Amino acid sequence: MKNTVLTFGQAKKEHKKQTMLTAYDYSTAKLIDEAGVNSILVGDSLGMVCLGYEDTLSVTMEDMIHHTRAVTRGAKNALVVADMPFMSYQTSTYDAVVNAGRLIKEGHAQAVKLEGGATVCEQIRAIVNASIPVCAHIGMTPQSVNAFGGFKVQGKGEEAAQKILDDARRVQEAGAYAVVLECVPAALAKKITETLDIPTIGIGAGADCDAQVLVYQDMIAMFSDFTPKFAKTFANAGAVMMEGFKAYIKEVEEGTFPAKEHTFKMDETIIDKLY
Ligand code: KIV
Ligand code: NA
Repeated sequence: MKNTVLTFGQAKKEHKKQTMLTAYDYSTAKLIDEAGVNSILVGDSLGMVCLGYEDTLSVTMEDMIHHTRAVTRGAKNALVVADMPFMSYQTSTYDAVVNAGRLIKEGHAQAVKLEGGATVCEQIRAIVNASIPVCAHIGMTPQSVNAFGGFKVQGKGEEAAQKILDDARRVQEAGAYAVVLECVPAALAKKITETLDIPTIGIGAGADCDAQVLVYQDMIAMFSDFTPKFAKTFANAGAVMMEGFKAYIKEVEEGTFPAKEHTFKMDETIIDKLY
């Protein structure tokens, strides 16, 4: 079944949990789509897990379009959401609409995601008015890493929690079809989920969110630079890959790979005629 922003919203009414994982390339998107994940996020986490930056701030529109195109070619049924990179929407509603449009027209995404609450509601409204669905993202928003003084849980105190709840109401009012809650206490995520009509998508936000999202490398143990507290290892893909890479080295060095069956044949009398 093709997932859309409508099926994503309908699932909340039916109390059906929805799943989202990130992907950045065609073959991984194809696997995730075939597994039956409802939505694929081409996250700007791309900068960290694929491009090796320390944060997401260096990711460009060109990076996002390039990877979104690859993912959308691999995703048949999943709803593909593309992240708007740092400074592609903060600068003006005009920039926000133009850049959201590029992720749809050139990347072939079905929706875009941007970070922030009350401060980006004008942008959300403008993009939604252009018929582009918007997923909001509040709580620990990685593009604000310098303002936050690091990647840390948000909304623990009363004032901070109230601000995040207010932001949640504001992005819904601005027309967002869903909102990511990143690294907020589970009790606050539950309160927001009960308050909103649109689905909440949690990452480090507890089990009461309407949906969950993870960076795929974090949940199959492929990314060793840093493991967030909220990432569970569902499969040890990193270890399986390492085993494969080492076996390849060993067999090439020993001369056991390639074997006959991996080799192309020809009429070898031709070789004798060569000079
Ligand atoms: O970029 C990303 O992967 C994200 C998710 C962690 C929500 O924004
Ligand atoms: Na992101």
